[in-house]
Parts: sequence; C-alpha cells; structure tokens
Amino acid sequence: MALSSSNSSSPSYFSSSRIVALFVLLLLTGTCSAKLSENFYSQTCPEVFKTVKSVVKSAIANEPRIGASILRLFFHDCFVDGCDGSVLLDDTSSFRGEKTAAANNNSLRGFEVIDSIKTKVESICPGVVSCADILAIASRDSVVILGGPFWNVKGGRRDSRTANFNAANSGVIPAPNSNLSNLISKFHDQGLSVKDMVALSGSHTIGKSRCSSFRDRIYNESNIDSTFAKAKQSKCPCTSGSADNNLAFLDFQTPNHFDNNYFKNLINQRGLLHSDQVLFNGGSTDSLVLTYSLNDKIFYSDFVIGMIKMGNNKPLTGSQGEIRKNCRVLN
Ligand code: HEM
Ligand SMILES: *[C@@H]1O[C@H](CO)[C@@H](O)[C@H](O)[C@H]1NC(C)=O
Ligand SMILES: *[C@@H]1O[C@H](CO)[C@@H](O)[C@H](O)[C@H]1NC(C)=O
Ligand SMILES: *[C@@H]1O[C@H](CO)[C@@H](O)[C@H](O)[C@H]1NC(C)=O
Repeated sequence: MALSSSNSSSPSYFSSSRIVALFVLLLLTGTCSAKLSENFYSQTCPEVFKTVKSVVKSAIANEPRIGASILRLFFHDCFVDGCDGSVLLDDTSSFRGEKTAAANNNSLRGFEVIDSIKTKVESICPGVVSCADILAIASRDSVVILGGPFWNVKGGRRDSRTANFNAANSGVIPAPNSNLSNLISKFHDQGLSVKDMVALSGSHTIGKSRCSSFRDRIYNESNIDSTFAKAKQSKCPCTSGSADNNLAFLDFQTPNHFDNNYFKNLINQRGLLHSDQVLFNGGSTDSLVLTYSLNDKIFYSDFVIGMIKMGNNKPLTGSQGEIRKNCRVLN
C-alpha cells in the first residue's frame, strides 16, 4: 500500500499535528466568512482588481473629477450604517433610498461608473463581488490614479437589503457649516479619531463643491484670504437661486491631483468650505494641518490608515445581506 495514499487507514494520518492543522483550517474558514480579508476574491474572482481599475482608469481619463465623486460616494456609504452599498440604491415607489438625503441630493455622482464596473465584474464572475466592495476598490483606485497613495483593499463586505434615508438626512454625514467639535464628534461616532478626521478631510484635495455649500463662508467669514474670497464670489452670487449649483474646485491649485495642497491652502486661509477652514483656525487640529502641509508622506500614511478604518466600518459579512446583481436595486 502506498504511504501517500489519501484514504490510508494508517493511524499516523490522525497524528496530533494533522488534527491541529485541520482545526486551524476550520478556524480560518470560519473567520474568513465573517471578516474582511485581502485575499477574499483570490479563488472566486481573481481578476476583480484588474477589472475595477480598468473601468476607473477610463472614467477618470474621460473626466478627472469622477475620481473625487467615487471617493465621496464611499464616504457617504460608510457613514450611514456602515460600508454596505446602501447609498447606491435607487428610490422606487415602495422604497426610499439615501440619494435624496440633504447631504446627497443633487450632489452625489459617479453612480454610472459603479454600474459599468458592476456589469463588467458580473460578466467575469457572476454573483460574487458585492457593490460595497466595488465601491471600496474603486475609491482606492481613484486616489492612486490621481497621484495619491496605494493601500490594499480587503474584500468581503456584503450589500444591504435596506437603506437609511433618515440617518443620511439627519446629520450623520457632517454638513459644511460644521464647527470643529461637530466634526470631531461625528467622526468619533463612526469609530474614527481626530487624526483620521483631519487626514480624511484631505480628500478635498480633489473634486468640486456647489456654490450653495460655500456661499456663507465666502461672503460672511473673516478668516478667509480676501483675494480668494473675491475670486469665488465672482461665480457664486450672494443670494441663492439659479447659481446654487455653480461649481468651484475644493483645491483650486491642483484640483485633479491627490496631493497635500489642500492643507497648504488651509494655512493660507484658502479653505473653500467652513468645515475645511475650522481645521486650521486656532484650534486643536492646527498642528496636524501644519504637519500635513509640510510633509505629504505623513499625510498619505495617515490618510491610508483612515481609509482602511473607514472601509472596515460595520460591514455586513458572511451570510448577512446579499450580493446585489445590480447595485441600484435589491435582488
Ligand atoms: C469632514 C467632514 C466633511 C464635510 C463637512 C464634507 C463636505 C463636503 C461638501 C459640502 C462637499 C461639496 C458637495 C457639493 O456641494 O455638492 C464635499 C465634496 C467632496 N468630499 Fe467631502 N466632506 C467631509 C469629509 C469628506 C471625507 C471624509 C471624504 C472622503 C473620504 C470626502 C470626500 C469628498 C470629495 C472627494 C468631494 C468632491 C466630490 C466631487 O467633486 O464630486 N469628504 N464634501
Ligand atoms: C431633491 O432635489 C430635487 C431637485 O432639486 C427636489 O425637487 C427634491 O425635492 C429634493 N428632494 C428632497 C428629499 O429634498
Ligand atoms: C458647535 O456647533 C454646535 C451646534 O451644531 C453648538 O451647539 C456648539 O456650541 C458649537 N461649538 C462651538 C465650540 O462653537
Ligand atoms: C451673512 O450674514 C448675514 C447676517 O447674519 C445674513 O443676513 C446674510 O444672509 C449672510 N449672507 C450670506 C451670503 O450668507
């Protein structure tokens, strides 16, 4: 009888080391289904990362701002009941999603890119990759393609069967008129530190804001560079109306490059949003803003830590939720 026979009845097959190995294997499989992991798709969809990246790359080549829009989608997903793809669900006559909540209505964008990614991923591994994971991966790719840092994205988030309009609408997502203590406490509610909050706010090194989000600041605040304020006022009249949706770059210097110019702007009182400038206004976060403005490597490393923490926020795992076929609708 061959010694290597797999159905050998030799007692050595059940040696203690084999039993230990078997238990370790069971333990690993057990935890893998309940936790996020970097190799979650290595057997079931090995091409997922390549596929997501190719779609994000062409979307950004077509319109650089879309990378910023995708990153913001992920933030607004993760802050409302965790990173579960809930923000992607469309409203129907019997279902209220999060898209029209105050922080999102007429502002969130990038849904079509997520749809294109989903279609492509479904064509190579149907029913395997969640919309929540696609959002996490596409956000990382957006940051990298726009010149920012890389990090490994874990997989295993599942998609919600619900959305939470009330949470999205009632201040879980911080508003641009927030003061520093509002910001600190809203991030704290999500398990994120003051450092995470400041580093993640560095996302405003890319993308745009509507006039309605910064009007009060450019007309009524004194901690603002006057040349900067005047330039912004020229495209954002002081009374609300048809110009409410006029856009301005959050980082007017390098709006399509993920760098630390956002923090340099804050040092020069050129933060666009009230909630940007409060990070450097004589308070407890001034020193961190100064550090990031002087050293992009420290910003990048704290940003990555913050993104990973935010991306691990209350995911649905294991058999919770579902793997949506279409990110906009429940299966
Ligand atoms: C600290 C609290 C934050 C506040 C108060 C805030 C608020 C805002 C506001 C008001 C806008 C402009 C929306 C509009 O007018 O349509 C915006 C844009 C943006 N936010 Fe934030 N944000 C915060 C944190 C974050 C975080 C943590 C991220 C990502 C991790 C992020 C990513 C972005 C991006 C990329 C844009 C530009 C989106 C685009 O161009 O489509 N923000 N944010
Ligand atoms: C969202 O915006 C649309 C278009 O401006 C508006 O008609 C609608 O009332 C808004 N929805 C909510 C819930 O505020
Ligand atoms: C911050 O704003 C809240 C209201 O949102 C207010 O209660 C609080 O007093 C403000 N804190 C500071 C330090 O201004
Ligand atoms: C500026 O503040 C004044 C006084 O609080 C207010 O009446 C006015 O509407 C504000 N203007 C803008 C553009 O926010």
